[in-house]
Amino acid sequence: MLNLGILISGRGSNMESILRSVKRKKIPIRPAVVISNKHDAEGLKIAGRLGVSVEIVESKGFTGSREEYDKKIMTVLSKYGVTPRNGLVCLAGFMRIISPEFVKKYKNRIINIHPALLPAFPGLDSQKQALEYGVKYSGCTVHFVDTGMDTGPIIIQAVVRIKENDTEESLSKRILKEEHRIYPEAVNLFARRKIKVSGRRTVIS
Ligand code: GAR
Repeated sequence: MLNLGILISGRGSNMESILRSVKRKKIPIRPAVVISNKHDAEGLKIAGRLGVSVEIVESKGFTGSREEYDKKIMTVLSKYGVTPRNGLVCLAGFMRIISPEFVKKYKNRIINIHPALLPAFPGLDSQKQALEYGVKYSGCTVHFVDTGMDTGPIIIQAVVRIKENDTEESLSKRILKEEHRIYPEAVNLFARRKIKVSGRRTVIS
């Protein structure tokens, strides 16, 4: 069975939806470790309560390069069996850019959730960007991580209609609900080896 590593920085609600779905829907993957780059991430407590091993690789005050930091992450992942051969790494609100070395080593084995319909509104504050632009629909995207910023092949997207009176908060809430639905779905497809990557596209069987 594949081993799952989840990287978080904060609240961890996507992590929680994945971990609960793995149990409930019998997704064939073993939740091996949750790693946070912040010692006070709320998600760490949730992971602990759900019986998953947690590790902290503090990024604040780390003086080495991005590559050196990611090496530390890869060492922890390997320790828990989340290897380039037998692992899946889910970024779940992990607010760091991943080094090209990490991406290459775990090619097509790192996936991310983003709160917009990529390629629109990459980067930070995507819900705010969508409101300010005036789009009528936004949503969320699960995609493979490549060396660009939110540019990897798309696995699943969900659309959310924008209401006239939406605030960043109300829109984020409706998008998050969809995130919690599609991220576990993507993990399930990956675990059952139903996703093939062909250039920029993914083919779901
Ligand atoms: C989620 O909305 C996720 O899509 C977003 O951060 C939030 C994390 O929430 N990620 C990004 O913006 C990445 N560019 P969570 O910690 O409750 O899962």
